[in-house]
This record gives sequence, structure tokens and C-alpha cells, in this order.
Amino acid sequence: MKSHPVSTPLALWLDPESPLGADHGQALQMSGWAVMVIQTMDDLMAHAPDAALVVLHLTTDITRLKAVQHLLQEAGLSTPVVCRVDRHELDLAVEASQAGALTVLATQDVRPASWQRVHAQLKPSTHRSAQTPVRQVVFVDPSSQHLLALARKVAQADVTALLVGPTGSGKEVLARVLHEASGRALGPFVALNCAAMPENLIEDMLFGHEKGAFTGAHREQKGLFEQAHGGTLFLDEIGEMPMHLQSKLLRVLQERQLTRLGGQNVIQLNVRIVAATNKDLKKAIAEREFREDLYYRIATFRMRLLPLRERPGDIIPLAMQCLLQQAAQPWRLHPQAQQMLLQYAWPGNVRELENVMRRATVLCTDHHITPAHLMFDDWLTQGHAADAGLVSDSLHTAEAEAMPAVPPVPTPMVEPMVASVPLPSAEAAVDQPTDLQSAVRLNEHQVIMATLASTPSKTEAAKRLGISPRTLRYKLAQLREHGLNMATAC
Ligand SMILES: Nc1ncnc2c1ncn2[C@@H]1O[C@H](COP(=O)(O)OP(=O)(O)O)[C@@H](O)[C@H]1O
Ligand SMILES: [Mg+2]
Repeated sequence: MKSHPVSTPLALWLDPESPLGADHGQALQMSGWAVMVIQTMDDLMAHAPDAALVVLHLTTDITRLKAVQHLLQEAGLSTPVVCRVDRHELDLAVEASQAGALTVLATQDVRPASWQRVHAQLKPSTHRSAQTPVRQVVFVDPSSQHLLALARKVAQADVTALLVGPTGSGKEVLARVLHEASGRALGPFVALNCAAMPENLIEDMLFGHEKGAFTGAHREQKGLFEQAHGGTLFLDEIGEMPMHLQSKLLRVLQERQLTRLGGQNVIQLNVRIVAATNKDLKKAIAEREFREDLYYRIATFRMRLLPLRERPGDIIPLAMQCLLQQAAQPWRLHPQAQQMLLQYAWPGNVRELENVMRRATVLCTDHHITPAHLMFDDWLTQGHAADAGLVSDSLHTAEAEAMPAVPPVPTPMVEPMVASVPLPSAEAAVDQPTDLQSAVRLNEHQVIMATLASTPSKTEAAKRLGISPRTLRYKLAQLREHGLNMATAC
């Protein structure tokens, strides 16, 4: 076995099915990995203490991954494991990712860029913890595939990009794609939400300060421009940036250099700026809220994320992806539930879809999602479903029924439709009621009420809810018992 230079991280290659091919070997080497081919678990234990990575081939299930994780754990090692899976084995890929694989690559993937990305994932980022799970990103609708292809091209050019689209549509996800597919993938990805910060703090966060620059500046602080050195700085909600900072940002972008607050030293800028907004910046320019010259400076490439309802091909794959993220089980999505997801307007876009699917996993006990498990955000904010005219306004149940049932849509996972990009933890987006039981009951109450209000009989309502009339009677009794008002429904 060839020795490897100490500075090059070692990847242990475990693939009893096939030898390491020259193309894989080259890809790893080109992306800065030393490779050692191992055959057995004993080999693994002998070399794992020196390794930065284990690369594992999975063929039928994740037993091998579990065994490797177990051995590493017993040896007190937290060596990350990359799994290689045939690109048609979607379930296996998702399972491996759920079980804690650092990332899952197609066995056929011999691109050095993929292995470079693994490097990047190992580097602790300023933005996420090393434990953040890697999630599949879905781009299935033809318009999304087109956008992904464009993003990958734009990523190669080191230019500023502006991402526009409604809230929850995936602007930050696309910003990460731009970063991961760029030559800066090994550098940091640093994000700042301009809407979430007070004005004076944005300036300090971006530019940093020298010790004593202002009262309370006890030590020097690097700004985000510096922290993102060699990588990407994502300026979210740039439309909310105050005017005087817009001027300062423009100057920095023109001169490619900056100074910290209270400092003299000129710092050279080496970041790529990706900005995002859900505002109509042209209107903001007309209203003198946004600088036109800054707009042209940041919008070298402008990419638009469509609202989710305008890319229906993404809806079911995103829903499935979200279910699998909750639990690595074979989920079923009832044709009528699919129909409801496809017909809903999704004012909160993908973020709302994630919320709806998370609620569904709480309500559903048998991994078969029916219409009864789907609670849309609109319903929750409208309070009492029947009183709020829910059925006629937001869910056209009668129409849904008149339409032919759609067959279950398989979740595709073939490149380039689905990319593997680490996403920020979704926890922030989860509704976390203090009392989950009551939230679940309230949701159930609302769906039952809405269905009863829109159907001629309880038998019909039960059918539409995907439960037996007996279960419906039982649920109504239960809801009454919990003091929920069923007066309008019964
Ligand atoms: N194409 C996608 N594939 C998988 N998840 C997505 C996709 N687009 C958005 N999401 C998820 O939806 C949520 C909102 O996305 P985000 O990028 O934060 O939207 P925005 O920045 O436009 O408000 C996040 O949890 C993100 O992971
Ligand atoms: Mg955002």
C-alpha cells in the first residue's frame, strides 16, 4: 500500500463488490484526497484512526453503513461516512442520508467536483454545525430544472447574482447551489439577513470593527466580508438594506476593498456576493428606496424563483422528500392527498409545504398520508374553519372530487434534477406549539369541520377524509369531549 503525505486527508475506500476504478482514483486524487482501498471491517478498524473519511458502497440496504457506524462509535471515532449508491436507488440513498451519511453520491459519479464538495462539507462553516444533515434539493418541474442548469452555469462565472422570488420559494437554497457549484465551494458560505438586523448592527456585522471603534468595542471584530473570504456572502432581503449602507456596499463592490469601522488598514475583498429579495426592486428604485446603481451592480445575473403553485412538478417530490426527512420509512401519499397538494395555492411556498408535511407526519400513524392529515397554513390563521368560509376560499374540495385521481407520483432522484446540497437546519421554520397535543387536535378539528361543512352527509365526509364513518363518529365524540365546539358541524 502506498504511503500518503500527512497533509493530504485519507479516505478509506470500502467496496467489496468492485475494485477502485482509475477514474474514481483520479477524481479523488485531483480533489485532494489520499485513498486507501480496504476490504474488511478489520482493515477499517486498523486504519480508521488515521482517516478523515470512510467511503462506503451500498447495494441493497444500509446494514453495512450501520455496521461501520457502530464500529467507529465503539472506537470513539466520529469519522464521517460517504455512501455510494446506484443513482436509481432513491430509497436507499434517502435511507443512508437519514441514517447519518455525510453525503450520498451516485456510484457512477466520477467528477472531482463531487469529492471537492465532500471536502467543503468537512470544513466547519461559520454558518452551520458539522452535524447539520445533508438534504436533497428538489428541482423536478421543467422550469426548476432549467433554473438549476442556469444556476450551475452562473456559478462558474465569478459574478454577482440577484435571486428574486416570493418568501419561502427557495432563494437561500439556490444561493447555496450557486456556492457549491462554484470554484469557491471549498470556501465559506456566510449569510446575512438584512431584514432581521437593526441598521447599526448590519454595518458592524458586514464591515467589522477595530478595538475601541465605539463604546463597547472591547476587541477587534472581523466583518462578514472578511469571514466570507474565498467564499460566498449571501445578502438576504437586500431590499431592506438602509440607503446609507447601500452607498457603502456599492463603494466596496466597485473598489473591491474595505476598511473596518474605526480602522485604517485596507482589506482586499475576495468574496462573491449573492443577493436575494422578495421586493420589487424596480418599484423601490422608483420610490427612491433602493439605489439604481447598486441594483445594476448586483444584478449581473438575475434569477427568478417561481411561486410553488407555478411549478406543480415540484410539489409531490418536495412533499415526499419532506416526509422521508421526517422518518426514513416507505411513505404513501393517497391520490386525493396528492390532488389537494397540487390544487392548493401555497401562499407560503416550499416553506409552507414543509410545515404541512411535518404536521401530516404528526397526525398520521400508519405512514399513509390521506387528506385528513393535511392542514394548510391558511386554515390555521383563519381560525374557525367553517366560520371563515374556508372551504369555498382556499380548498376546492368539490372540484378535487370531480377530478380523476392521480396515480402516486414516484419521487425522482436522477441527476441533475436532484442535487445534494447541505441545507440549513429546518428547525427554525417548524411551528412549535407549546402544547403539541392541542395543536394537533385543533388541526384535526378544523379539517373535520371543513369537510363536514362541504359534504351532504357524515358518510360522505368520512369517505373524503379517508376514514371509516365509525372512526369519524369516534373522532367527533373525542373532539366534543375535549371541549371543542362542534355545534356548527353536528
Ligand atoms: N428546491 C428545494 N428543495 C428542497 N427544499 C427546498 C427547496 N426550495 C426550498 N426548500 C426548503 O424550503 C424552505 C424555504 O426555503 P428558503 O431557501 O429559505 O426560501 P426563501 O429564502 O426564498 O425564503 C427551506 O426549509 C428550504 O430547505
Ligand atoms: Mg430567505
